[in-house]
Amino acid sequence: MNEKQLAAERSVDFIKDGMTVGLGTGSTVNYMIDALAQKVKKGLKIKTVATSKLTFQLAASSGIDVVDLELVDRIDLTIDGADEVDPQLNGIKGGGAALLYEKIVASNSAKNIWIVDSSKLVKKLGRFPLPVEVIPYGSNLLISKFEKKKFKPAFRKFEGNNFITDGGHFLIDLNLEKIDDPKGFEEELKTYPGVVEVGLFAGIADMVIVGEGKEIRIIDRMDRPAKK
Ligand code: 5RP
Repeated sequence: MNEKQLAAERSVDFIKDGMTVGLGTGSTVNYMIDALAQKVKKGLKIKTVATSKLTFQLAASSGIDVVDLELVDRIDLTIDGADEVDPQLNGIKGGGAALLYEKIVASNSAKNIWIVDSSKLVKKLGRFPLPVEVIPYGSNLLISKFEKKKFKPAFRKFEGNNFITDGGHFLIDLNLEKIDDPKGFEEELKTYPGVVEVGLFAGIADMVIVGEGKEIRIIDRMDRPAKK
């Protein structure tokens, strides 16, 4: 079993009968959905919301009850992956392009667990290109502004065209190398008109489950007050 799978399989132990569960996006989450589907087949009663079309399709086709976000009044727990995690459990997300919906679901979840392989743990965020979701209108001008700020921006591409997110937006990846103040930088980026969301998730994860070799390590902040 690889590190992603180890972390994913452990995470489903935190899902209990009656919960409404947020399902993240990405290859690690896909392992989690497989494990969750097994528990549902054995009788676990849950409702879920998905953070992307891909996750929706995988979960629904695996027999998991996935409902529209508009139909839930609470999310008890969200399980998601991450691209980088620092020692304070701040993270970069959006490598899988789902950062906007992931942040909406995460920030409406009482608790958030991230599942990662050991390569995702870093001392400082920023080596992984930081995804910024922007509306298409005026996005070339945003690229110019980010270039002037030396953020080294690049449109995310798919088959030669700008990648389009589930929300109908473009992604600009910033090649920063390091981010000294994740929360402050997120706030700064959100002051640019046209920026919809930033892949910096500061103070959101309550627990990180890390696959390390053949073991798992749990970094626990579950004693933080619940967000909702
Ligand atoms: C999607 C994400 C993913 O959680 C992140 O990219 C990690 O992906 P993977 O589990 O495939 O390594 O943020 O927007």
